[in-house]
Amino acid sequence: MRIIKAADYQDMSRKAANLISAQVIMKPDSVLGLATGSTPIGAYQKLVEWCKNGDLDFSTVKSVNLDEYKGLPRTNDQSYYYFMHENLFDKVNINPANTHLPDGTEPDSDKECARYEALIQSLGGVDLQLLGLGHNGHIGFNEPADEFDKVTHCVDLQESTIEANKRFFASADDVPRQAYTMGIGTIMQAKKILVVVSGEDKADIVAKAFFGSVTPQVPASILQMHQDVTLVADAAALSKVPQK
Ligand code: GLP
Repeated sequence: MRIIKAADYQDMSRKAANLISAQVIMKPDSVLGLATGSTPIGAYQKLVEWCKNGDLDFSTVKSVNLDEYKGLPRTNDQSYYYFMHENLFDKVNINPANTHLPDGTEPDSDKECARYEALIQSLGGVDLQLLGLGHNGHIGFNEPADEFDKVTHCVDLQESTIEANKRFFASADDVPRQAYTMGIGTIMQAKKILVVVSGEDKADIVAKAFFGSVTPQVPASILQMHQDVTLVADAAALSKVPQK
């Protein structure tokens, strides 16, 4: 694992965007695995800026998102579909037909998860997967569990996740209780993984996930087993990492 230490959120965002940009420049038809949450927003802003000034071209890029709330229509401003359009897709020259998310409006979980998993495989897998980190160590919506979930599946969100995400909704009651997410196996199949983390409130989980034991109770800990992971984190998020 490579750790790139950033000074602060802005620096983390620029460094992460540089790595995504390098991927797109080196392989213009890359399949990017994209993430939501507040952490990647700054990196997306940089990509938009560089696309607008002509340094970056998304015209042949394809994307698959990690996850989506089950039951939220695309028009709901808290759906991840809406988030991605708002923060990236509508602001760069990506072909909307090449952007993919789980369909939160499909009520049949088995059908939707099988469709999404097959779609990812049909694109040839993910070249670079961007990940944020939940406070409980979740990646995508893979919550702490007794075993690692392999493929795209429907999850019941944990109370801590509902708590963390309620800031985006009118109240905790409005946060959907379920979501579709790529599985840990799906994520681990990505050729490269880029994790972005910022803030002191993530310092404990960064230390646990990347320097503790590999356990499904800390889903992100599995990333220690991946051969090409880059963690871009700011000084606050790295403040509890054991010093050599
Ligand atoms: C959400 C998303 C994750 C994200 C996490 C952290 O629950 N499903 O993909 O990484 O929260 O979010 P934030 O970056 O806002 O801390």
